Amino acid sequence: MFEKNSIDQIRAAFPRAVTDFNGRKRAFFDNGTATLVLGRAAQAEAEARINWSANVGGIFDESKQANEVIHAGRQAVADFLNATSPMTIVSGESATSLFFNLSYALGKELSGSENIVTTDYEHYTNISPWVELERRGKIQQLRYSRLNMEEGSLDLDHLQELIDSNTKIVTVTSASNMLGTKTPLEEIGKMAREVGAYFLVDAVHHIAHGPTDVQALDCDFLVFSGYKLFSSHGSFLYGKEKYLDTLKPYKVKPASNSPPWKFEWGTRNQATFAAISGVIDHFLWLSNEVNFHYEEEFMEYRNQKRSLKIAMDAIEQYEMGLSKAILTGFDDIEGLLDIPEVTIYGLTDLNRLNERDPTFSFEVKNIPEEEVVNRLWRDGGIAARSGHYYSYAQEIYNKPKIIRISLVHYNTLEEIKIFLKTLNEICKTKK
Ligand SMILES: Cc1ncc(COP(=O)(O)O)c(C=O)c1O
Repeated sequence: MFEKNSIDQIRAAFPRAVTDFNGRKRAFFDNGTATLVLGRAAQAEAEARINWSANVGGIFDESKQANEVIHAGRQAVADFLNATSPMTIVSGESATSLFFNLSYALGKELSGSENIVTTDYEHYTNISPWVELERRGKIQQLRYSRLNMEEGSLDLDHLQELIDSNTKIVTVTSASNMLGTKTPLEEIGKMAREVGAYFLVDAVHHIAHGPTDVQALDCDFLVFSGYKLFSSHGSFLYGKEKYLDTLKPYKVKPASNSPPWKFEWGTRNQATFAAISGVIDHFLWLSNEVNFHYEEEFMEYRNQKRSLKIAMDAIEQYEMGLSKAILTGFDDIEGLLDIPEVTIYGLTDLNRLNERDPTFSFEVKNIPEEEVVNRLWRDGGIAARSGHYYSYAQEIYNKPKIIRISLVHYNTLEEIKIFLKTLNEICKTKK
């Protein structure tokens, strides 16, 4: 989907895509933990810090500009998510803090007799806030939809069985941060709406990998984090206007009673908004690079929203190629599927690559995870990781320190070649 020239330009847009700060050439395959920062996002952030560090609400230029930067950031995020208005975008310290914040507000709507339905492959960000409501007697039960363990996907029949007339919230991740599996959000959203439950989406893992459209999903709330989308720390919550209006979040009395401000704890960091606007500008640039592939598609989206949809669709297509290469390898290099020592957790069906992000968890027979990761780094310059990613799925699979590689659109087939070559060597030398 990307021409060679575009890939080179994409990589040039990320100051650390090729080498780390030591000048060491390496392939960054730890994007599920945090993506590398986009140069223009970091620059916009620094500019906002230097020029407009004044707090909002003043009559002087720095303060007015800070306000504008924040508003522009909300608008950019709203366009990116196809939200109806910038006023539907709340910012927060992290996805975790936004989920806790939301859970307190939703908790006030609950009587104690209801249940919440989630899944066995959530990040704890989308579990602990609900466990807390359960502990406080705000709900009767938190229910976990099980997985088809073999393929690492959700068991939708089970999820449907768990939802009943007492279900008040259905809350799911848009992709598993352990398995890479994408969640069929539209189907689950329908199930939630049939019983009048709120439908929440944790989009943190998937956000960098494809289009996210809150209107198409008809979700009530959706959360993602800037540092998983080439930006800085700081996260964003989309909420339907009617719920942002009526919910009563914990807040200090003098703070505004109107959304989005009433959900925002403390003063905003304008640099966070400047940075995310920089990221959205990158996607707009990218859409110009690839839009000759798209003549008739996505005409239902207007202007900037169509461009963003095109950019994210192109990223999704490109990343499917990366997933295929990781699994099947190259003429002279075996892929993960063909290395006998490797066990993959997650979808491996080549006809279903559109159902996964390029995030792969695996283990190597008879070699401890730390050793594999150390040797990938030492011998191949592959930045991978083993450990606990706060994914509940790791408990379900009993894999507390699985190896994970997670790729994004600045990764390349050449990097995958080096990774697979190094991994093949590691496996051979242990025999
Ligand atoms: C799916 C998912 N949800 C939530 C989080 C936590 O995000 P934050 O660090 O912004 O709280 C992560 C982080 O890895 C994640 O992968």
